[in-house]
Amino acid sequence: MNDALYEMIFKRKSFHLFRGTGDLSLSDGELAAIRTAWSGFTPLDPSIRTAIRIAPCLGPRGAEYCILFYSEKKDGYLQNIGYLGEQMDLYLVSENIGTLWLGLGKPDEATFDGLDYVIMIAIRKLADGSLFRKDMFKSKRDPVEKIWQGERIDGVTELVRFAPSACNSQPWFVKNDGALSVFRRFGKLGIMPKNTALYFNRIDMGIFLAFLDLCLKHRGIAFRRELFCDGGDAQPLTLNAVYHLL
Ligand SMILES: Cc1cc2nc3c(=O)[nH]c(=O)nc-3n(C[C@H](O)[C@H](O)[C@H](O)COP(=O)(O)O)c2cc1C
Repeated sequence: MNDALYEMIFKRKSFHLFRGTGDLSLSDGELAAIRTAWSGFTPLDPSIRTAIRIAPCLGPRGAEYCILFYSEKKDGYLQNIGYLGEQMDLYLVSENIGTLWLGLGKPDEATFDGLDYVIMIAIRKLADGSLFRKDMFKSKRDPVEKIWQGERIDGVTELVRFAPSACNSQPWFVKNDGALSVFRRFGKLGIMPKNTALYFNRIDMGIFLAFLDLCLKHRGIAFRRELFCDGGDAQPLTLNAVYHLL
């Protein structure tokens, strides 16, 4: 994964409304650059076929386009789309494009090229880059104690918790006992029905792994990632990945 995305962790934020962001439109060249960027992102599982479509976004939020993510439905496909989609989120920030992961968005086409719709990100070009986050540490997240057990890693532990998640549910838990075991934690439903939470929480896990990888790589910590099948059970903790630190 491209280290340039790391810096965007500190800037990114959800534009729940694109009000006051100006009236710039994305050019054909910028839309083409988004498609090119997508083809260069690293998947969690390269055997899962995925695609994006960029469609005009109508609706009250003021986004100009939606990037719709499609995937083959195989073990780990939700985590894989979360991982790829978060690279897209951070790339867009680097291009001064505001974003919103939109779990509740309705796709205009439920399938594309034989793949199923998974989720979308709404976007709009920002007239002013200062609209991004100025101090990430002020955003609302669980404290480190709640998401990390065992020795902390400087430059990693305190940053990964700022990954975005559906309804800010932060369904992740890391145990560091020399290797990092990354679990999906189930329980904090908020306003989400159980099955909706089980769906989005697995996308959230992919997003979290993207943050974890960027932070580890930025710190020069090499690892071998082992992925585990998460069928979406409602257990308190479901292992998603083990990072063997090298
Ligand atoms: C998978 C996913 C789905 C989301 N769906 C919605 C949504 O439907 N509507 C919305 O307003 N925000 C949605 N969000 C945005 C989250 O509420 C937001 O990321 C979270 O509160 C953290 O805030 P931040 O992104 O500004 O750091 C979604 C985020 C993720 C990761």
